[in-house]
Amino acid sequence: MNSVEAIRARHSVRNYRPEKIEEEKVALLKEKIRELNRRGNLNMQFIEDAGKTFNKLLNKFMGLGSAPSVIACVGKDIDNLDQRVGYFGEQLVLYAQSIGLNTCWAGTFNKENIGAEVLDDERLVIAIAIGYGADQGRPHKSKTADQVSEAAGERPDWFERGVEMALLAPTAINQQKFLIKLNADESVEFIDKGGVLSQIDLGIVKYHFEVGREGGGSL
Ligand SMILES: Cc1cc2nc3c(=O)[nH]c(=O)nc-3n(C[C@H](O)[C@H](O)[C@H](O)COP(=O)(O)O)c2cc1C
Repeated sequence: MNSVEAIRARHSVRNYRPEKIEEEKVALLKEKIRELNRRGNLNMQFIEDAGKTFNKLLNKFMGLGSAPSVIACVGKDIDNLDQRVGYFGEQLVLYAQSIGLNTCWAGTFNKENIGAEVLDDERLVIAIAIGYGADQGRPHKSKTADQVSEAAGERPDWFERGVEMALLAPTAINQQKFLIKLNADESVEFIDKGGVLSQIDLGIVKYHFEVGREGGGSL
């Protein structure tokens, strides 16, 4: 499964089967996390037993309590940490999809119960529930390309492909509050139109756009 295929297959999954992720896949995830942490200057952590991470009232209402494991997205609180978490965390989400796992980004979770290691200069930004889904989720309701993008002149194919992939990105409460602008010199700007956790969204959207522009490489 390449990155475009993983983007098309991924949907948030909030109900999980009880089985744990098997050792070989845990090893693959940990290896991927190591690589992404190095590239993104992050300290993301795979936490095998989600325990009481999702015991908030909202989780009981929305689901996620059944997730067997969780990824704690932690990093040094510099250089736009939220955006970096989105950009590199989404690569982990898509990699997980490609090895048969399901995920859900989760801004609502119990920061004490997750059991992450957070150093003095670090911040715990968000969690990602992970495991085998009871289902594969479903496509989200989406804005149109015109609602989230603007071009100074013609819209080249690579731009259209990037925007298409960006529209498939997960965003907090499915807000899709971003604008992708193509300038006359062919540079691309990503504008945060505000909203909850919208800088994380923007990092995710940037990665999806790049996958579309480049036509889908390996994960
Ligand atoms: C930054 C961020 C925070 C999110 N927080 C939660 C959450 O706390 N609980 C939840 O059930 N879903 C959460 N989601 C999942 C979104 O609701 C979901 O991505 C969106 O509805 C689009 O659906 P899709 O992921 O299936 O494409 C979050 C997503 C993002 C990107």
